[in-house]
Amino acid sequence: MDKSERLRVLGTLADRMDRGTTADAGGIMRVPMSDFTCPRLFTREREAFFRNTPLCMGLSSELPAPNTYWSDNATGIPILMVRDGGGAFRAYANVCRHRGSKVVPEGRGSKTRFVCPFHAWTYGIDGRLLKVYKDCHFGNVSSRKLSLIALPAAELHGTLWVRPTPGDPVDEDECLGGLQDDLAHWHLPDHPVAGSQTIDARMNWKLGIDSYGEIYHLNVLHEKTAAKAALGNLQAIDRFQRNLRMVVANQQLKLMRFLMPAMDRWPYRQVTSTMYFIYPNVIMVVDTFGVDLVRIFPLDDSPSKSRTIHTWYIHPNVQEHFEDQAMSYEERLKTFRDAVELEDYAMGEDVQLNAEMGLQAEILLGRNEGALHHFHNVHRSGIGRDLLPVEEA
Ligand code: FES
Ligand SMILES: [Fe+2]
Repeated sequence: MDKSERLRVLGTLADRMDRGTTADAGGIMRVPMSDFTCPRLFTREREAFFRNTPLCMGLSSELPAPNTYWSDNATGIPILMVRDGGGAFRAYANVCRHRGSKVVPEGRGSKTRFVCPFHAWTYGIDGRLLKVYKDCHFGNVSSRKLSLIALPAAELHGTLWVRPTPGDPVDEDECLGGLQDDLAHWHLPDHPVAGSQTIDARMNWKLGIDSYGEIYHLNVLHEKTAAKAALGNLQAIDRFQRNLRMVVANQQLKLMRFLMPAMDRWPYRQVTSTMYFIYPNVIMVVDTFGVDLVRIFPLDDSPSKSRTIHTWYIHPNVQEHFEDQAMSYEERLKTFRDAVELEDYAMGEDVQLNAEMGLQAEILLGRNEGALHHFHNVHRSGIGRDLLPVEEA
């Protein structure tokens, strides 16, 4: 995101403030409520999106040095990610080749070898089987053929990507779709992990994604929380193939316009929140505090349940501020959680229940909810469904 691009986005926001308009071109989209409840559709989505599509797992700082690991079960498949001794990012199915136990418990750390808790088979950070416990008793096996199963993995501009199923390598252009410059601009690897939390909700995973795709609701639902920081119903949207960027204005933008008429002197990161939808299931928000990465997955093989994993990667410049102000990382994580869980997801759970009751066949997405039009149609396109039309309005 170079300076001219940042200026263009700021110009769009300022212009919309002046004109009192928020909407992108387009109209109304009607989404069938059965998209959130149908078990057959859910099975297709799970196969396509959560087994066979490369997923953005986190930022490079999850693995901050050679010989570090991160074991994560969020996709539904246990995945072991490592940065090997040479600094390369690799991923494996976290499944022991002996009897199929999970080799490494969930978590992060630093190690060069992994010992399975069941019968102590030992694997190297390169995935090779190094030792069969009491091999003279077990019998002869070829350790060459019993490495951990490698999963396609790539580190792209400070983000870590894994496809949960073995197969073709991860394709950068397909994953990023033109977001390369944006990601490089934010220096993502310089943001260390500040904390992570899990929010389970009784709603379809796509309703979770939808929660982040419009700020039409900001001044209503978040009147006492997020609306104090950002301006509602005002956004600049750009599409990057399957991905999308939505920039919203912070309250400081109003002050900055008053104090400093020259837009090219506005501190972009202080006056905006830049939100990315990263296909198929990630929302990444860049603001003054750092980067919030929200990964949303189906839960318990159910179309009605989802799990959100929120990780906050702190901006190196604000670490000191948190220490000076005695504001704990937990407080900031809780603030984020409360707005999402008690406000956004409470609405999502209502929508899910109503979808299941079948009183109403469809929901409407307006002109000022353009990101949601995009989400629904890229998910449809990802499993070969017909796209939803946008009716002029
Ligand atoms: S299952 Fe891992 S050593 Fe037996
Ligand atoms: Fe919200």
